[in-house]
Amino acid sequence: MPDRLRELSRRNAEAEAGGGPERRAREKSAGKLSARERIDLLLDPGSFEETGKFVASRATDFGMAEARIPGDGFITGHGRIHGRIVFVFAQDFTVFGGSLSEANAAKIVAIMDTALRVGAPVIGLNDSGGARIQEGVVSLAGYTDIFLRNTLASGVIPQISAILGPCAGGAVYSPAITDFTLMTERTSYMFVTGPDVIRTVTHEDVTKEQLGGAATHNQISGVAHFMTADDAQALATIRELLTFIPSNNLDLAPRSPCTDDPARADASLDSIIPEASNQPYDMCDVITKIVDEGYFFEVHQHFARNILVGFARMNGRPVGVVANQPAVLAGVLDIDASVKAARFVRFCDAFNIPLLTFEDVPGFMPGVQQEHGGIIRHGAKLLYAFAEATVPKLTVITRKAYGGAYCVMSSKHLRTDLNLAWPTAEIAVMGPEGAVNIVYKREFDQALRTAEAVWPQGKPFSEAEKQAILADLRAEKVEEFRSRFANPYVAAERGYIDAVIRPSETRRRLNLALDMLATKREKNPPKKHGNIPL
Ligand code: HXC
Repeated sequence: MPDRLRELSRRNAEAEAGGGPERRAREKSAGKLSARERIDLLLDPGSFEETGKFVASRATDFGMAEARIPGDGFITGHGRIHGRIVFVFAQDFTVFGGSLSEANAAKIVAIMDTALRVGAPVIGLNDSGGARIQEGVVSLAGYTDIFLRNTLASGVIPQISAILGPCAGGAVYSPAITDFTLMTERTSYMFVTGPDVIRTVTHEDVTKEQLGGAATHNQISGVAHFMTADDAQALATIRELLTFIPSNNLDLAPRSPCTDDPARADASLDSIIPEASNQPYDMCDVITKIVDEGYFFEVHQHFARNILVGFARMNGRPVGVVANQPAVLAGVLDIDASVKAARFVRFCDAFNIPLLTFEDVPGFMPGVQQEHGGIIRHGAKLLYAFAEATVPKLTVITRKAYGGAYCVMSSKHLRTDLNLAWPTAEIAVMGPEGAVNIVYKREFDQALRTAEAVWPQGKPFSEAEKQAILADLRAEKVEEFRSRFANPYVAAERGYIDAVIRPSETRRRLNLALDMLATKREKNPPKKHGNIPL
């Protein structure tokens, strides 16, 4: 027996050594934690149960038989985060560059299958040179087995990807299918084809960082949802993210004890909207004055900043917040904002998280680039996402709700359960300035003709002169239009708004509604699946 135990210790030590101290030291000097250190930081202390620790490569070509390392460079298993079971895999870059082999792909597939059976999240800690080159097509098969699981698990269990090193080639498509992607600054990058190939094919010169670093994917492409300073911050962010979401699509998100009065009134909300309706304000201030403890956990913070998405709690219940941001591009809906919000709405709906929408939107972004880029089909994604969502839906119109954007932003017509408006709400087909140009065009033309008839100069008016002549009339019509349409009462008369409320009482009204909606059950017509305009 002692011999057997000694052998077990030796084998464990061999597996835990990974690619050896030299390679580990190189990783450390680059600011990266080891795969095992990452798992330890991610999970509750002492909760990790490893599986497949002695699984070894099945490859024999290229000297692989002699180079076997127990575990084959991937650490897999399960543990707990805040006491709840999660499944995790971590790629160890010190073993063949964390590359994916037939054997270690099977380890990931095994934990994903178990996670699906028991209804627990899967977290991937990615740090890999991609498909193991020595194994050829069996490695590609391994990737595809994972992609299939990612897809089947989508909407059933939450899937989270941390990119903590390289993630290139087809390997990027696993994180892309998962629900949330985190990237570390300086040490991570993602791309389908790297700078060398790009230089050859398109003659563009670009660094890895510019092409697919954390800033690029958080700000420009929207591929990543979080950017963190280092591994430790990424792992802490995942732990926090999980406090807002349930373990699977049949559970409710965990409710926390709440010390913030659910009926708390915030008088400063009554004056938060600026007098001039074209003046910006920060919607984050509105959100934080309403949600528990003023805490908003923002997702996709650096991408499409004209819309805000993220999690918060209301009386201890996690909610998904979607909010136009008047401080950026006046809160207009463009392609990126629509796609960002649509994906978030669908996540919340899949995982039973109520949706809280704050609306101040002047409309969809005009422009050739937006139209040619497909704002029609991308904007439709957000419309579709809100329309199909069956979780409790609550909307607060703080100021503008114009045109198609009014319809899209969780309007009453999309089965939203509670639509509130502040007295500052302006709900109309378009803003008064634009509207009067169309509605009163004849009156304006007539006024110009009358002025022309008594104009002694005998030459047409300049544009500036026209504006001056029409200024009073236009101001009068804008005011008339504003008082007739740019208010919440026309919509409230129709029942499209359930109540016009004092802003200070928003928290109380929303919490009462969330209590009432706690047992909401709504189903869409049975179908194989819808056909969201992708
Ligand atoms: C086997 C690999 C490997 C791989 C790296 N290594 N990538 N071994 N298969 N894909 C090994 C190296 O041989 C080296 O081994 C160790 O990992 C560290 O690699 P370095 O190159 O020294 O590290 P670094 O300079 O940091 O460069 C990292 C890297 C580079 C940029 C990731 O290694 C690289 O370009 N690797 C190949 C990437 C690639 O083309 N992968 C295939 C992509 S296609 P030693 O023994 O020296 O420590 C793909 C298809 C997926 O993945 C398709 C899915 C459908």
